Amino acid sequence: MEAGAMSDFDWAAMADMLELEGEAHSPYVRQALEELKHLTPGRILDVGSGPGVAACRLAAVFPRAEVTAVDGAPELLARAEERAERLGVRLRTQVAEFPEGLADLGPADLVWSAQVVHHVGDQQGALDQLVGLLEPGGVLAIVEGGLPARWLPRDLGFGRPGLQARLDAALADRFSRMRAELPGSEAVVENWPGMLRAAGLTEVRSRTFLVDHPAPLAEGPRQSVRRSLERQREMLGELLDAEDLATLDRLLDPADPAGVDRRADLFLLTAKTVHFGRRPEHR
Ligand SMILES: C[S@@+](CC[C@H](N)C(=O)[O-])C[C@H]1O[C@@H](n2cnc3c(N)ncnc32)[C@H](O)[C@@H]1O
Repeated sequence: MEAGAMSDFDWAAMADMLELEGEAHSPYVRQALEELKHLTPGRILDVGSGPGVAACRLAAVFPRAEVTAVDGAPELLARAEERAERLGVRLRTQVAEFPEGLADLGPADLVWSAQVVHHVGDQQGALDQLVGLLEPGGVLAIVEGGLPARWLPRDLGFGRPGLQARLDAALADRFSRMRAELPGSEAVVENWPGMLRAAGLTEVRSRTFLVDHPAPLAEGPRQSVRRSLERQREMLGELLDAEDLATLDRLLDPADPAGVDRRADLFLLTAKTVHFGRRPEHR
């Protein structure tokens, strides 16, 4: 796909990785939606849905609601439609580029937006717009922050121990560069609950959910780790030293018994933070 004007990545090319990751991380979505099961939303938006793993879950949990998956990448929305059909849930899709396309989406009783706001230059402005979509009393849930994933022991048997900590540091650098290069990029203290309050929400709270797939890993989470590692190898080449690059190459070698495809000690452990807030009935 041609990356849209506001896109920082070629999202469509990442469809497989996003779907595998969405599935591997789905335990946190289930737990987060448990927190919302008292709601009876008529209209739900999943803003930046990607291939629709969470959107389909929303449609399953709230079968009476009209659920719309919204994304800038039509290829990912096609995946979401296929997934909804496969799972037998009702899902609409809508292509929209953020932030300019956000204004036309509402109104909704529940807006879910996972790992998307940080891809918009003006994060507070994006939150203000998401809040603007809510009906009075409506709920916004955004997924931001949490903890980086862990897949392997600190000493994985070759290379310099502590690879994952160095990958985290390189990713943090890469992330800052990505944010600085976004159109209309605004620096802000990334205090998500504070930003939700500043956008006018009340009853703001944050909950963190564990994603814990212990070794030995099933094929789905194992593939998700592989894709993620391949992507880090691609993105971080210039930020890592030769020894760490050689370690990554060995981990990604399908023929190597110590590689991620074959080793028995691979696991997937991460934590996702969901920030919830409600639009007051009366402003
Ligand atoms: C990191 S993925 C998250 C996907 C899904 N919400 C999840 O948590 O797995 C970010 C998604 O936001 C979409 N996105 C990012 N920036 C966008 C923009 N400026 N306009 C429209 N969509 C955008 C991408 O196409 C991608 O599907």
